[in-house]
Amino acid sequence: MDIRFQTGGSSHWKADVVVTFVFEGEGVEEACSVLAQNALWLGIAPAWRDFRGRSEELVMFYGPQAMEISRVLGAGLGRADKADLTAFRHAVGRAVRLCREYDLATVGIDGASLARVAEKMGVSFDALAREAVISAYLALYRYDRWKSEKSVHADPRWLALMLETEFVEDAVRDSARMAEAEARGIMLARDAANDPANVMTPSAFAEKAEGVAGRYGMNVRVLGPAELAAEGMNAYLAVARGSAEEPRMVVVEYVPKGAEGRAPVVFVGKGLCFDSGGISLKPAKGMEEMKGDMSGAAAVLGVMESLGQLAPSYAPKRPVVGVMACAENMPGGHATRPGDIVVAKNGKSVEIVNTDAEGRLVLADALCWAQENYSPFRLIDIATLTGACAVALGMDAAGLFSSDDALASLLHEAGMNLGERNWRLPLWTAAGLAALKSPCADMVNSGPREGGAINAAVFLQQFIKENVRWAHLDMASADNAENPINAKGATGFGVRTMLSAVWDDENEVLQ
Ligand code: BES
Ligand code: MN
Ligand code: ZN
Repeated sequence: MDIRFQTGGSSHWKADVVVTFVFEGEGVEEACSVLAQNALWLGIAPAWRDFRGRSEELVMFYGPQAMEISRVLGAGLGRADKADLTAFRHAVGRAVRLCREYDLATVGIDGASLARVAEKMGVSFDALAREAVISAYLALYRYDRWKSEKSVHADPRWLALMLETEFVEDAVRDSARMAEAEARGIMLARDAANDPANVMTPSAFAEKAEGVAGRYGMNVRVLGPAELAAEGMNAYLAVARGSAEEPRMVVVEYVPKGAEGRAPVVFVGKGLCFDSGGISLKPAKGMEEMKGDMSGAAAVLGVMESLGQLAPSYAPKRPVVGVMACAENMPGGHATRPGDIVVAKNGKSVEIVNTDAEGRLVLADALCWAQENYSPFRLIDIATLTGACAVALGMDAAGLFSSDDALASLLHEAGMNLGERNWRLPLWTAAGLAALKSPCADMVNSGPREGGAINAAVFLQQFIKENVRWAHLDMASADNAENPINAKGATGFGVRTMLSAVWDDENEVLQ
């Protein structure tokens, strides 16, 4: 599906179907008078009798087949004073999914309706157009590569933003471009995380990353066991020991023209291609979900893909580096045992009392490596790190940890606006360190259940140098979902939030 524009008002609009948005209790006059100017039948369409504009409601209005606009799909948004962007995204998602089910090849979005909804919701037209485009892409995403019988319904050929203006303003075009680039990054992340662990191994992930880098002229480095050992990354290696699959730390570097030599924005993603728990084996129920324990790394690669899509015309002012720490956590004759002690890259010793607390071990070394090889302008890690974070915040929200208030509020605002909810949790260093006290090493890798997400964050903090602006996103409850813009499975959570941290350069917000 590609994105198009139609300009000049509804007399110039033409598509198999035009989607318009309706708040609860509205009729054609309030909701879509501009559209009705060139679809006069809409005013007397019988289906209005039963359409209430409630959220989740979808009604197809039919006019005479010969008309330029002969189908209008009304998507309910619920009460105007209650509707939010999530309701809007889901309405778009439901609408385009229905269009696909009906095999409608060309879909318009009523721009006058968009403008009205934007005003009621207190966001700009451009921002809402961006949400409409990205939601359409995300709703149509499906993971069907293993299905021998594919769906008979093809995606619409194009989606058009139907505008009242004579020309497409640059800001609108940019919004649509940004949305498409974000969507491509998210879909790449979803694919990687949905792929099973026998396919998306650390080596396969590295190849996928090399593909991204190759497409966009980015630099890429891949560190295997020998390189990781030479770098003293023993905490990372301890996780991979039990697996026949070798670990791969993948580093993709994007240096836009003119940004050479500037401090980069660095992302570090947890890439556990499978987390069985190791010798501290997980229970069988739901273990298959641990194929997605590389969602953090997948989101980081998604960010690189989005940036590549936008390059070179829309480039950040700084280099962007993605570090993806891939490995597989398995039991086996060579596996790390509970009680084993390793010395991490920064010289700190860790007693591994629970081999299932492996994410923090790979991240510890990857974070050290990132700080040694770059002087990050900001350093952000993202990981499916603790079940405790899901217990604390519920589903579809990430925990946000940072000792830097400005970075924390940047990430919080961005995530909340873009449909990737996160909530700041405290970095209680003293309490965390007390909980992680080891009788024989500098710390243990796993403490008591209480405050599990905080303890994990404090553990990571021990590998962050002073004065580095660092934030940690624990996305253990946000990597999976099923909703109108997410087919059951991986979400690609984090791509949009991290991209915001690329564009926001010294607090100049580019939304
Ligand atoms: N990958 C898991 C966390 C996770 C759990 C992600 C559920 C997504 C859904 C992580 O490696 C893990 O096992 N964490 C342990 C930590 C504990 C041993 C301190 C947990 O949360 O139970
Ligand atoms: Mn684990
Ligand atoms: Zn894990």
